Amino acid sequence: MFRINENYLKLKAGYLFPEIGRRVKAFTDANPDAQVIRLGIGDVTEPLPTAVTDAMKAAIDDLSNRDSFHGYGPEQGYSFLRDAIAAHDYQNRGVNVSADEIFVSDGSKCDTGNILDILGSDNKIAITDPVYPVYVDTNVMAGHTGPADANGRFDGLVYLPVTAENNFVADLPSESVDIIYLCYPNNPTGTVATRETLQKWVDYAQQNNSLIMYDAAYEAFISDDSIPRSIFEIEGAREVAIEFRSFSKSIGFTGVRCAFAVIPTELKVTASCGTVVSLHQLWNRRQSTKFNGASYVVQRGAAGAYTPEGRQQMKSLVDFYMTNAKLLREGLQSVGITVFGGEHAPYVWLQTPNGLSSWDFFDLLLSKGHLVGTPGSGFGAAGEGYFRLSAFNSRENVKTALERFKSVVQ
Ligand code: MLT
Repeated sequence: MFRINENYLKLKAGYLFPEIGRRVKAFTDANPDAQVIRLGIGDVTEPLPTAVTDAMKAAIDDLSNRDSFHGYGPEQGYSFLRDAIAAHDYQNRGVNVSADEIFVSDGSKCDTGNILDILGSDNKIAITDPVYPVYVDTNVMAGHTGPADANGRFDGLVYLPVTAENNFVADLPSESVDIIYLCYPNNPTGTVATRETLQKWVDYAQQNNSLIMYDAAYEAFISDDSIPRSIFEIEGAREVAIEFRSFSKSIGFTGVRCAFAVIPTELKVTASCGTVVSLHQLWNRRQSTKFNGASYVVQRGAAGAYTPEGRQQMKSLVDFYMTNAKLLREGLQSVGITVFGGEHAPYVWLQTPNGLSSWDFFDLLLSKGHLVGTPGSGFGAAGEGYFRLSAFNSRENVKTALERFKSVVQ
């Protein structure tokens, strides 16, 4: 008889966003005339920048001609894209990352899950709480945890609460942990980390021989130059961190799919046999075996975002969503809601009114306002009493959503 990976049985029934989708479908089936506005999953709504689509069209033309045809590409990504990333996202900002340390992929969700392939099964893992659920669920699937308790917290993980009480800055773990997941600008709270906070984490990782998995998928939304966009702006980070970035939100690629991971050549670990091993080489070996690279057309599109006009269009797109975030923040504050985030991130994190639980507030907003958000408790036990609104929507929908929100809570 074949067997399944029984670690999957430890997971909560559904991944958060499909569960929200299920509830919304039940509501719309029962109320077919309701015009539901979705500010739940952070999915983009605006068209791709023309510099990106033009580059993709030209790439399709390349594929239509024998002389410029491309078959399998390099598993690590084409150099035209890796060079542009290294130059614009790092070197021009004074950050030491070279093109050959960049691995282009089809998404940060995949990268943050797949990276577990090259890590051992007995690491002590710390996550902030609330957290992007992928970090937790992929570790559960890989058998790195025990079962979940009544709050949905998995045995074996170290949870670091981030709430209004600690200003959304996690304390360093009191025990030594091997792997730490950090995400800034943060999903779901929309908050950011200062240079000092990140330096504390890098120093901790140096002292404890830990690895930092730094998810910077939302760095394009930072508008203040004093806030680090990359963990590699922090001294010592090249020896302890991997960075994940994505084109999903900055150029609207949630459906197109393109992202990258940066693994510095200095990042090394001693294996149990005493050999010093480079994580860069291990990941290269993994990708060359299990991945054939993101498509040529998609990578050409991503590279289009680094042309002068592409950079300008990307900025306009980011500014558009950040204006939505500002409207949401200010609109909610005007009716007495306490809000966080939304200044350097496309997510607004709010305290539920009247002490409602996150899911009760979800149901109230859906049934009375025909609005969808994401319950904070879906991101972890410490998210209870909070709620996330995504700024990814049309301006018109955001304005209508605000009016409806106000009428529900007032
Ligand atoms: C979210 O809503 O948290 C994001 O869309 C999830 C993701 O990017 O995978």
